[in-house]
Amino acid sequence: MKEKVQNFVQDLHNSQYDTEFYKTLIESDRMIIDHKREIYSLNGQWNFSIDQYDTCLRAKWYLEETEMDGFRKPVDFDYDHWELMNVPSCWNTENERYMYYEGPAIYTRKFNFTKKEEKRTFLKFGAIAQEGKIFLNKTFLGTHKGGSTPFYIEVTDFLKKENRLLVVVDNTRKLSSVPSVNTDWFNYGGIYRSVELISTPLTFIKDYTCRLDENSTKRVCFDIMLSDKAQGEVYITIDELKIKEAIKMIDGKGTVTVENENILLWEPNNPKLYSIELRYKDDIIEDKVGFRTIETQGTDIFLNGAPILLKGICIHEESVKNGKAVTEAEVRENLSLAKELGCNYVRLAHYPHSEIVARIADEVGMLLWEEIPVYWWMDFTNPMTFEDAKNQLSELIHRDKNRASVIIWSVGNENADTDERFSFMRGLVETVKELDPTRLVSAACLIDHVENKINDRLQEVLDIIAVNEYYGWYEPDFNKFIKILDNSSPNKPVIISEFGGDGASGQFGTPDDLGTESCQDDIYRKQIEMFKKTPYIKGTSPWILFDFRCPRRHGKYHNGYNIKGLLNADKTHKKIAFYRMEEYYNSF
Ligand code: GCU
Repeated sequence: MKEKVQNFVQDLHNSQYDTEFYKTLIESDRMIIDHKREIYSLNGQWNFSIDQYDTCLRAKWYLEETEMDGFRKPVDFDYDHWELMNVPSCWNTENERYMYYEGPAIYTRKFNFTKKEEKRTFLKFGAIAQEGKIFLNKTFLGTHKGGSTPFYIEVTDFLKKENRLLVVVDNTRKLSSVPSVNTDWFNYGGIYRSVELISTPLTFIKDYTCRLDENSTKRVCFDIMLSDKAQGEVYITIDELKIKEAIKMIDGKGTVTVENENILLWEPNNPKLYSIELRYKDDIIEDKVGFRTIETQGTDIFLNGAPILLKGICIHEESVKNGKAVTEAEVRENLSLAKELGCNYVRLAHYPHSEIVARIADEVGMLLWEEIPVYWWMDFTNPMTFEDAKNQLSELIHRDKNRASVIIWSVGNENADTDERFSFMRGLVETVKELDPTRLVSAACLIDHVENKINDRLQEVLDIIAVNEYYGWYEPDFNKFIKILDNSSPNKPVIISEFGGDGASGQFGTPDDLGTESCQDDIYRKQIEMFKKTPYIKGTSPWILFDFRCPRRHGKYHNGYNIKGLLNADKTHKKIAFYRMEEYYNSF
């Protein structure tokens, strides 16, 4: 057989060129606690190029070779002369040339680094939409799947005085991905949350969990994990509670329960946060945490032992200006609008929002539903899809498990009830209960239109039955909803996780004029009337706070936006349904 010439031409014919890059996945087990650690920001302007045919990976541009076996490799890249792209940002909103670009794109920058003795260094990406392959100094470090959760790579041994970081970002929608190829939101792309180098001592506090003791609101349990199987003490300090406790670490792990009669519980109207400090030798972690209980009994939800009704609203992570790369000011604006609406609760749809949202919700007092994008049709029979969903869920829980505002983990949205889907979602529910038994688990289910009642078998493993329904909009016959509610007898709390209808800002008419604010408002009127008559409904979160980009929407008023918002996309106009919902929420 003629010897196969090994040269760059093989790149052109290698259909399996990317297989090697999925052998090293960066997952939740590599996460570290990084809040307020010493960081070196890599945000700013990176060199950027779209790479529609994935040539960087095919031709191994990241090796920066110019010849191979006597052949001159085509050097079709020139990093330092590429255009500049802001990090963090979405390429879609940064440059209108890339508004609808879906595919691989390359981000790269150089940076100098001075090694620090007795220190370790971790590279953190807040989030990359949707997949990131990371190369440092021509070395492939791994691939992260999932467009909404942070990931960390130890780079201590890879850093030099002068470094080149190269990231292949790919927002191509794939059948086997999480989410799959069909959603009702815009598919942004980019390194859209911060990139940092994090410095830690050689042995450091890698993870901690703090939560109220399940049997007493006067006791707080701390679980600590060090970065290796070290011994010694971790000191916990909560000055305001005059708590200073030492935990004896054995093989890098330790737990302790501290007690104080004066613990003030966190709640939306009094979001009490305590400053805590964890110290292990020269490693110090500072955080602000709130303490509260959340549980269900029968069809009621209890916060700190008292029944609570969830007065909510759904929010997508998006702004007209920044796409998914929302700023702190935009997050604060959203939560402030929710407060103005009379909300004590927000459903963060349909994927993990920025980590600042839960921190700000802790601060301002807003309960949260957080969700992974197991949305509509998914490749439920694909084990790799399940592992991807499970990892994104693990990363979300690891990131936000110490945030008092988060009360519900959601494992999906509107997935048709099949055996494969049930097995997949039950596996995710088991993951929630394994990682965080202190919070409630739910999913946005669909109504059973055969039995004509609230009847998704997934609810047998959920703590809260959430239901999306659009009676008065997709289902024009509102009387069916009345029959369904009468025909249902749930044994767990039910929340209406979505309802609503299109409302084009500034368009008015009769309730029959579809797509107008008047029509939207009349849907809210009829929905609210039903909520008032149905005692087992313990919460609602209308779809949605503001209009958002959606490539599926090209009707009379849409212009590429989903217009079910209670405000328009840039939040400069409140629709009349906003005031109706505000009146309802402020009536109890
Ligand atoms: C669904 C879905 C949303 C979608 C909404 C709509 O319930 O959960 O993501 O945007 O309906 O149709 O507007």
